[in-house]
Amino acid sequence: MKIGILSYRPLTIRAAPEELKLKKTARERGHVSRIFRSSRFQMVYDRESPWLLYDGKQFPKYDVIITRPSVLRNVDLHIALVEQMELMGTLLFNRYESILNAKNKIKTMQILDHYDLPIPRTVVLHRPEDLKQAVKFVKGFPLIVKRPFGSYGAGVTIIESMRALQSFLLWEDSMYLFQQYVKYSKGKDIRIFVINGKVAGSMMRSAKRGDFRSNIELGGRGESVDISEEEAAIAVRAVQALDLHYGGVDIMRGKEGPVILEINSNPGFKALEKSTEADIAGALVDYAVEYAERSVNLL
Ligand SMILES: Nc1ncnc2c1ncn2[C@@H]1O[C@H](COP(=O)(O)OP(=O)(O)O)[C@@H](O)[C@H]1O
Ligand SMILES: [Mg+2]
Repeated sequence: MKIGILSYRPLTIRAAPEELKLKKTARERGHVSRIFRSSRFQMVYDRESPWLLYDGKQFPKYDVIITRPSVLRNVDLHIALVEQMELMGTLLFNRYESILNAKNKIKTMQILDHYDLPIPRTVVLHRPEDLKQAVKFVKGFPLIVKRPFGSYGAGVTIIESMRALQSFLLWEDSMYLFQQYVKYSKGKDIRIFVINGKVAGSMMRSAKRGDFRSNIELGGRGESVDISEEEAAIAVRAVQALDLHYGGVDIMRGKEGPVILEINSNPGFKALEKSTEADIAGALVDYAVEYAERSVNLL
């Protein structure tokens, strides 16, 4: 089988360790595998369009592509490449629309709330006049402010007072999410990696001293953790609600049970594989094969 990996890393740096591992794992299992770099594509429109060039030549036919959309800015523009592949009939996952929903924290909260999944109290607002009411709704200070697009903890801030809040926000054309601070979990959260409706691995992440964010990219530590059946079920349902084939769900253990902070459509798994026994690359490659075979059988 031919398994492609779509990487969004800038050409000035190597592909991500996860992307390299996926390629290696696929090859070890007897498949053809190659990493495609998003910047090397040209999207072409003419009477026979759409079509794609890769390195100036026709994009070769692959049985399935695993997308790794590590994009933070102008997500919709960059992800148009994924949509173009879909329009051309390329089998791939995660798909365009679910990536967009996962990258946008407002959309994610909308969908999770719609499906009755537990989230911290959250308000989205546009103007300073509504601040007071929002602060009350999220149970006062400290509270968490998030920009709709952001990852690796960038764009997530803890605010301790009204004065800090007022001077921190830039209202021009911006929207923010205000969220109740989940104090009870003391800077720890749980990353649950779901593939094809099953938990493939999970770890507890602890924030570095002096920070409240537990992202590994910010120096957070990962360790293996036993998750409850409820936590597993919530993570699986959240990934399904966003229509993702695989995803990383960030959960905190709140006073009244687990709450979901966000869902990642291209979760890293280096730290997860290192701090637990989980074989995420293997599970993703196996799923890619199964998905491609299932799709062929449907034709
Ligand atoms: N409501 C919250 N209460 C307490 N800590 C939070 C809250 N939201 C986020 N955090 C902390 O900040 C980190 C980053 O937030 P998250 O929403 O996952 O954004 P990112 O996409 O940047 O990872 C989380 O892993 C968690 O440690
Ligand atoms: Mg996160």
